[in-house]
Amino acid sequence: MNGSVRVLERLDELYAIGGGPGANRIGYTPAEDGAHELARGWMEDAGLAVEVDPDGNLIGRTADVAVWTGSHLDSVPRGGKFDGAVGVVAAIEAVERVGKGAVVVFRDEERGCTGSTAFVARGELPVCFLEVHIEQGPVLESAGAPLGIVTNVVGIARGEKVFDGEPGHAGTVPMSARRDALAAAAEYVLHVRDAAAAIEGAVATVGRLVVEPGAGNVIPGRVQLAVDVRAPDRERLDLLVADLGLEPDFRLDPVPMAEEPRAALGAELEARDLPVVELPSGAGHDAAILAAAGVPTAMLFVRSLNGGISHAPEEESSPEDVALAVDVLTGALARLAARSH
Ligand code: GLV
Ligand code: MN
Ligand code: MN
Repeated sequence: MNGSVRVLERLDELYAIGGGPGANRIGYTPAEDGAHELARGWMEDAGLAVEVDPDGNLIGRTADVAVWTGSHLDSVPRGGKFDGAVGVVAAIEAVERVGKGAVVVFRDEERGCTGSTAFVARGELPVCFLEVHIEQGPVLESAGAPLGIVTNVVGIARGEKVFDGEPGHAGTVPMSARRDALAAAAEYVLHVRDAAAAIEGAVATVGRLVVEPGAGNVIPGRVQLAVDVRAPDRERLDLLVADLGLEPDFRLDPVPMAEEPRAALGAELEARDLPVVELPSGAGHDAAILAAAGVPTAMLFVRSLNGGISHAPEEESSPEDVALAVDVLTGALARLAARSH
Protein backbone atom coordinates (compact mmCIF):
# COMPACT_ATOMS: atom_id res chain seq x y z
CA MET A 1 0.00 0.00 0.00
CA ASN A 2 1.07 3.57 -0.71
CA GLY A 3 2.72 4.93 2.47
CA SER A 4 0.76 8.19 2.51
CA VAL A 5 -2.55 6.34 2.27
CA ARG A 6 -1.44 4.00 5.04
CA VAL A 7 -0.62 6.94 7.31
CA LEU A 8 -4.11 8.41 6.82
CA GLU A 9 -5.81 5.04 7.37
CA ARG A 10 -3.87 4.62 10.60
CA LEU A 11 -5.02 8.03 11.82
CA ASP A 12 -8.61 6.94 11.17
CA GLU A 13 -8.07 3.66 13.04
CA LEU A 14 -6.70 5.48 16.07
CA TYR A 15 -9.53 8.01 15.99
CA ALA A 16 -12.12 5.23 16.04
CA ILE A 17 -10.90 4.01 19.44
CA GLY A 18 -13.15 5.14 22.27
CA GLY A 19 -16.17 5.74 20.07
CA GLY A 20 -16.33 9.55 19.99
CA PRO A 21 -17.39 12.28 19.80
CA GLY A 22 -13.76 13.18 19.19
CA ALA A 23 -10.72 11.27 20.43
CA ASN A 24 -11.05 9.94 23.97
CA ARG A 25 -7.80 8.24 24.88
CA ILE A 26 -6.84 9.49 28.33
CA GLY A 27 -3.38 8.36 29.46
CA TYR A 28 -3.11 4.91 31.04
CA THR A 29 -6.74 3.99 30.25
CA PRO A 30 -7.78 0.98 28.11
CA ALA A 31 -8.28 3.41 25.19
CA GLU A 32 -4.64 4.53 25.29
CA ASP A 33 -3.62 0.86 25.76
CA GLY A 34 -5.60 0.01 22.61
CA ALA A 35 -3.83 2.71 20.63
CA HIS A 36 -0.45 1.39 21.80
CA GLU A 37 -1.48 -2.12 20.74
CA LEU A 38 -2.25 -0.85 17.24
CA ALA A 39 1.07 1.01 17.07
CA ARG A 40 2.92 -2.08 18.29
CA GLY A 41 1.46 -4.09 15.39
CA TRP A 42 2.44 -1.41 12.87
CA MET A 43 5.97 -1.30 14.29
CA GLU A 44 6.26 -5.09 14.00
CA ASP A 45 4.98 -4.93 10.42
CA ALA A 46 7.71 -2.34 9.75
CA GLY A 47 10.30 -4.86 10.98
CA LEU A 48 11.14 -2.99 14.18
CA ALA A 49 12.15 -4.76 17.39
CA VAL A 50 9.54 -3.68 19.92
CA GLU A 51 9.78 -3.24 23.67
CA VAL A 52 7.70 -1.56 26.37
CA ASP A 53 9.62 0.31 29.04
CA PRO A 54 8.70 0.24 32.76
CA ASP A 55 6.39 3.24 32.35
CA GLY A 56 4.54 1.81 29.37
CA ASN A 57 6.30 3.82 26.67
CA LEU A 58 6.40 1.85 23.43
CA ILE A 59 9.72 1.72 21.58
CA GLY A 60 10.41 0.11 18.21
CA ARG A 61 13.87 0.17 16.73
CA THR A 62 16.01 -1.07 13.91
CA ALA A 63 19.16 -3.04 14.72
CA ASP A 64 21.34 0.00 14.16
CA VAL A 65 19.69 3.03 15.77
CA ALA A 66 20.68 6.61 15.01
CA VAL A 67 17.93 9.16 15.52
CA TRP A 68 14.73 8.72 17.53
CA THR A 69 11.36 10.08 16.50
CA GLY A 70 7.82 9.80 17.86
CA SER A 71 5.07 11.46 19.88
CA HIS A 72 2.07 10.37 21.98
CA LEU A 73 -1.23 8.52 21.48
CA ASP A 74 -3.20 9.71 24.49
CA SER A 75 -5.65 12.56 23.94
CA VAL A 76 -7.60 15.14 25.88
CA PRO A 77 -11.30 14.33 26.37
CA ARG A 78 -13.10 14.97 23.05
CA GLY A 79 -9.81 15.71 21.35
CA GLY A 80 -8.90 15.77 17.68
CA LYS A 81 -7.58 13.22 15.22
CA PHE A 82 -4.09 14.62 14.75
CA ASP A 83 -2.65 15.77 18.12
CA GLY A 84 0.09 13.25 18.96
CA ALA A 85 -1.20 10.60 16.56
CA VAL A 86 0.22 12.24 13.45
CA GLY A 87 3.71 12.23 14.99
CA VAL A 88 3.46 8.51 15.74
CA VAL A 89 2.18 7.33 12.37
CA ALA A 90 4.66 9.62 10.56
CA ALA A 91 7.50 8.24 12.70
CA ILE A 92 6.69 4.59 11.92
CA GLU A 93 6.43 5.32 8.21
CA ALA A 94 9.64 7.39 8.09
CA VAL A 95 11.77 4.93 10.06
CA GLU A 96 10.56 2.08 7.84
CA ARG A 97 11.53 4.08 4.75
CA VAL A 98 14.97 5.03 6.10
CA GLY A 99 15.60 1.54 7.47
CA LYS A 100 17.31 2.96 10.49
CA GLY A 101 16.14 4.65 13.69
CA ALA A 102 13.82 4.30 16.66
CA VAL A 103 10.16 5.16 17.09
CA VAL A 104 8.90 6.02 20.56
CA VAL A 105 5.31 6.44 21.71
CA PHE A 106 5.27 8.23 25.03
CA ARG A 107 2.48 7.62 27.55
CA ASP A 108 0.10 10.18 28.99
CA GLU A 109 1.44 13.40 27.43
CA GLU A 110 -1.64 15.54 27.84
CA ARG A 111 -1.88 15.44 31.62
CA GLY A 112 1.78 16.32 32.15
CA CYS A 113 4.21 14.39 29.93
CA THR A 114 4.26 11.48 32.37
CA GLY A 115 5.85 8.93 30.02
CA SER A 116 8.60 11.13 28.57
CA THR A 117 9.47 12.53 32.01
CA ALA A 118 9.92 9.01 33.38
CA PHE A 119 11.83 8.00 30.25
CA VAL A 120 14.45 10.78 30.58
CA ALA A 121 14.73 10.15 34.32
CA ARG A 122 16.04 6.67 33.53
CA GLY A 123 18.95 8.35 31.78
CA GLU A 124 19.39 6.39 28.54
CA LEU A 125 18.93 9.33 26.25
CA PRO A 126 18.65 9.27 22.45
CA VAL A 127 21.47 10.94 20.50
CA CYS A 128 18.88 13.06 18.71
CA PHE A 129 15.05 13.36 18.70
CA LEU A 130 12.59 14.64 16.10
CA GLU A 131 8.85 15.07 16.71
CA VAL A 132 6.27 15.77 14.03
CA HIS A 133 3.16 17.44 15.46
CA ILE A 134 0.26 19.53 14.24
CA GLU A 135 0.73 23.24 14.87
CA GLN A 136 -2.49 23.64 16.89
CA GLY A 137 -2.56 27.32 15.90
CA PRO A 138 -3.18 29.59 12.89
CA VAL A 139 0.37 30.72 11.97
CA LEU A 140 1.15 28.29 9.14
CA GLU A 141 -2.33 28.56 7.64
CA SER A 142 -2.00 32.38 7.60
CA ALA A 143 1.49 32.13 6.08
CA GLY A 144 0.34 29.70 3.39
CA ALA A 145 3.01 27.23 4.51
CA PRO A 146 2.29 23.51 4.82
CA LEU A 147 5.04 22.89 7.38
CA GLY A 148 7.01 24.85 9.98
CA ILE A 149 10.03 24.45 12.20
CA VAL A 150 9.71 25.05 15.93
CA THR A 151 12.15 27.50 17.51
CA ASN A 152 11.27 26.90 21.15
CA VAL A 153 8.54 25.52 23.40
CA VAL A 154 6.94 27.88 25.94
CA GLY A 155 7.16 27.40 29.69
CA ILE A 156 4.21 25.70 31.36
CA ALA A 157 3.16 25.42 35.00
CA ARG A 158 0.10 23.60 36.26
CA GLY A 159 -1.34 23.34 39.71
CA GLU A 160 -4.53 22.92 41.73
CA LYS A 161 -6.20 25.41 44.06
CA VAL A 162 -8.72 24.51 46.74
CA PHE A 163 -11.35 26.89 48.13
CA ASP A 164 -13.05 25.88 51.36
CA GLY A 165 -16.37 27.37 52.43
CA GLU A 166 -19.29 26.15 54.47
CA PRO A 167 -21.94 23.96 52.89
CA GLY A 168 -25.51 24.77 53.84
CA HIS A 169 -29.14 25.01 52.79
CA ALA A 170 -29.66 27.11 49.66
CA GLY A 171 -33.00 28.38 50.99
CA THR A 172 -32.41 29.10 54.65
CA VAL A 173 -28.91 30.56 55.08
CA PRO A 174 -29.05 34.36 54.66
CA MET A 175 -26.69 35.84 52.10
CA SER A 176 -24.81 37.74 54.81
CA ALA A 177 -24.05 34.50 56.70
CA ARG A 178 -22.68 32.47 53.77
CA ARG A 179 -19.20 31.21 53.05
CA ASP A 180 -19.73 30.08 49.46
CA ALA A 181 -16.62 28.29 48.12
CA LEU A 182 -17.70 28.66 44.50
CA ALA A 183 -18.19 32.43 44.80
CA ALA A 184 -14.59 32.68 46.09
CA ALA A 185 -13.34 30.40 43.31
CA ALA A 186 -15.18 32.50 40.71
CA GLU A 187 -13.34 35.63 41.87
CA TYR A 188 -10.08 33.73 41.58
CA VAL A 189 -10.91 32.57 38.03
CA LEU A 190 -11.43 36.18 36.96
CA HIS A 191 -8.13 37.11 38.61
CA VAL A 192 -6.41 34.35 36.60
CA ARG A 193 -7.79 35.86 33.39
CA ASP A 194 -6.77 39.42 34.29
CA ALA A 195 -3.31 38.55 35.65
CA ALA A 196 -2.37 36.65 32.48
CA ALA A 197 -3.75 39.38 30.23
CA ALA A 198 -1.51 41.90 32.01
CA ILE A 199 1.68 40.00 31.05
CA GLU A 200 2.75 40.20 27.40
CA GLY A 201 2.79 36.74 25.78
CA ALA A 202 1.38 34.94 28.83
CA VAL A 203 -1.81 32.87 28.95
CA ALA A 204 -3.61 31.14 31.80
CA THR A 205 -6.61 28.85 31.89
CA VAL A 206 -8.90 27.31 34.48
CA GLY A 207 -10.27 24.29 32.65
CA ARG A 208 -11.64 22.10 35.42
CA LEU A 209 -13.64 22.78 38.56
CA VAL A 210 -14.96 20.24 41.04
CA VAL A 211 -17.76 21.67 43.17
CA GLU A 212 -18.74 19.85 46.37
CA PRO A 213 -21.18 18.62 47.36
CA GLY A 214 -22.44 19.54 43.89
CA ALA A 215 -26.19 19.91 44.30
CA GLY A 216 -28.31 22.78 43.02
CA ASN A 217 -29.85 23.46 46.41
CA VAL A 218 -26.69 23.25 48.54
CA ILE A 219 -24.26 26.12 49.12
CA PRO A 220 -20.88 24.96 47.70
CA GLY A 221 -18.62 23.89 50.57
CA ARG A 222 -15.49 23.11 48.61
CA VAL A 223 -14.12 23.82 45.16
CA GLN A 224 -11.02 22.35 43.61
CA LEU A 225 -9.82 23.85 40.34
CA ALA A 226 -6.98 23.28 37.87
CA VAL A 227 -4.85 26.18 36.63
CA ASP A 228 -2.65 26.00 33.50
CA VAL A 229 -0.18 28.88 33.08
CA ARG A 230 2.13 29.50 30.10
CA ALA A 231 4.70 32.16 29.22
CA PRO A 232 7.52 32.59 26.69
CA ASP A 233 10.29 32.93 29.31
CA ARG A 234 11.05 31.85 32.84
CA GLU A 235 10.75 35.35 34.33
CA ARG A 236 7.21 35.87 33.07
CA LEU A 237 6.21 32.34 34.06
CA ASP A 238 7.54 32.86 37.60
CA LEU A 239 5.81 36.22 37.85
CA LEU A 240 2.43 34.80 36.89
CA VAL A 241 2.79 31.70 39.08
CA ALA A 242 3.59 33.93 42.06
CA ASP A 243 0.72 36.33 41.29
CA LEU A 244 -1.73 33.40 41.20
CA GLY A 245 -0.37 31.87 44.42
CA LEU A 246 0.12 28.63 42.55
CA GLU A 247 2.22 25.74 43.81
CA PRO A 248 2.80 23.88 40.53
CA ASP A 249 2.67 20.09 40.44
CA PHE A 250 3.92 20.20 36.83
CA ARG A 251 6.48 22.62 35.48
CA LEU A 252 8.30 22.79 32.18
CA ASP A 253 10.69 25.67 31.68
CA PRO A 254 10.79 27.30 28.23
CA VAL A 255 13.24 25.35 26.10
CA PRO A 256 14.89 26.04 22.71
CA MET A 257 15.12 23.46 19.94
CA ALA A 258 18.62 22.41 18.81
CA GLU A 259 20.49 23.81 15.83
CA GLU A 260 21.56 20.63 14.01
CA PRO A 261 18.22 18.78 13.79
CA ARG A 262 16.48 22.09 13.00
CA ALA A 263 18.90 22.62 10.12
CA ALA A 264 18.22 19.09 8.84
CA LEU A 265 14.48 19.83 8.72
CA GLY A 266 15.18 23.22 7.09
CA ALA A 267 17.32 21.62 4.39
CA GLU A 268 14.54 19.18 3.59
CA LEU A 269 12.00 22.01 3.26
CA GLU A 270 14.36 23.95 0.98
CA ALA A 271 15.03 20.87 -1.14
CA ARG A 272 11.28 20.79 -1.88
CA ASP A 273 11.02 24.54 -2.49
CA LEU A 274 8.79 24.87 0.55
CA PRO A 275 8.83 28.06 2.63
CA VAL A 276 10.87 27.77 5.82
CA VAL A 277 8.63 29.26 8.49
CA GLU A 278 10.00 29.20 12.04
CA LEU A 279 7.63 29.58 14.96
CA PRO A 280 7.43 29.01 18.71
CA SER A 281 5.17 26.35 20.22
CA GLY A 282 2.57 27.51 22.71
CA ALA A 283 1.67 23.89 23.38
CA GLY A 284 3.72 21.53 25.50
CA HIS A 285 5.33 18.47 23.92
CA ASP A 286 7.34 15.39 24.81
CA ALA A 287 10.05 16.96 22.63
CA ALA A 288 10.41 19.73 25.21
CA ILE A 289 11.03 17.16 27.95
CA LEU A 290 13.78 15.53 25.89
CA ALA A 291 15.29 18.91 24.96
CA ALA A 292 15.31 19.99 28.60
CA ALA A 293 17.14 16.75 29.45
CA GLY A 294 19.88 17.68 26.98
CA VAL A 295 18.84 15.66 23.92
CA PRO A 296 19.41 17.59 20.64
CA THR A 297 15.77 17.93 19.60
CA ALA A 298 13.71 19.52 16.84
CA MET A 299 10.04 19.65 15.95
CA LEU A 300 8.28 19.81 12.59
CA PHE A 301 4.83 21.38 12.67
CA VAL A 302 2.12 20.44 10.18
CA ARG A 303 -0.28 23.22 9.18
CA SER A 304 -3.55 23.16 11.15
CA LEU A 305 -6.68 24.10 9.24
CA ASN A 306 -9.97 25.56 10.56
CA GLY A 307 -8.10 28.55 12.03
CA GLY A 308 -5.79 26.27 14.01
CA ILE A 309 -8.44 24.83 16.33
CA SER A 310 -7.08 21.95 18.42
CA HIS A 311 -7.96 19.90 21.50
CA ALA A 312 -11.34 19.62 19.79
CA PRO A 313 -12.88 17.29 17.17
CA GLU A 314 -12.69 20.11 14.58
CA GLU A 315 -8.88 19.75 14.57
CA GLU A 316 -7.84 19.26 10.91
CA SER A 317 -4.79 18.99 8.66
CA SER A 318 -4.86 18.10 4.97
CA PRO A 319 -3.76 14.69 3.62
CA GLU A 320 -1.25 16.51 1.36
CA ASP A 321 0.37 18.33 4.30
CA VAL A 322 0.57 15.14 6.35
CA ALA A 323 2.19 13.33 3.40
CA LEU A 324 4.72 16.16 3.03
CA ALA A 325 5.53 15.98 6.74
CA VAL A 326 6.30 12.26 6.39
CA ASP A 327 8.58 12.98 3.42
CA VAL A 328 10.43 15.78 5.25
CA LEU A 329 10.79 13.67 8.40
CA THR A 330 12.15 10.81 6.32
CA GLY A 331 14.71 13.08 4.66
CA ALA A 332 15.79 14.66 7.94
CA LEU A 333 16.18 11.27 9.64
CA ALA A 334 18.34 10.07 6.75
CA ARG A 335 20.50 13.22 6.87
CA LEU A 336 21.01 13.01 10.63
CA ALA A 337 21.68 9.26 10.50
CA ALA A 338 24.36 9.85 7.85
CA ARG A 339 25.99 12.55 9.98
CA SER A 340 26.01 10.47 13.14
CA HIS A 341 28.63 8.16 11.59
C1 GLV B 1 -0.54 19.66 25.38
O1 GLV B 1 -1.24 19.49 24.40
C2 GLV B 1 -0.59 20.93 26.04
O2 GLV B 1 0.10 21.86 25.59
O3 GLV B 1 -1.38 21.06 26.97
MN1 MN C 1 0.30 16.70 21.47
MN1 MN D 1 -2.53 18.04 23.16
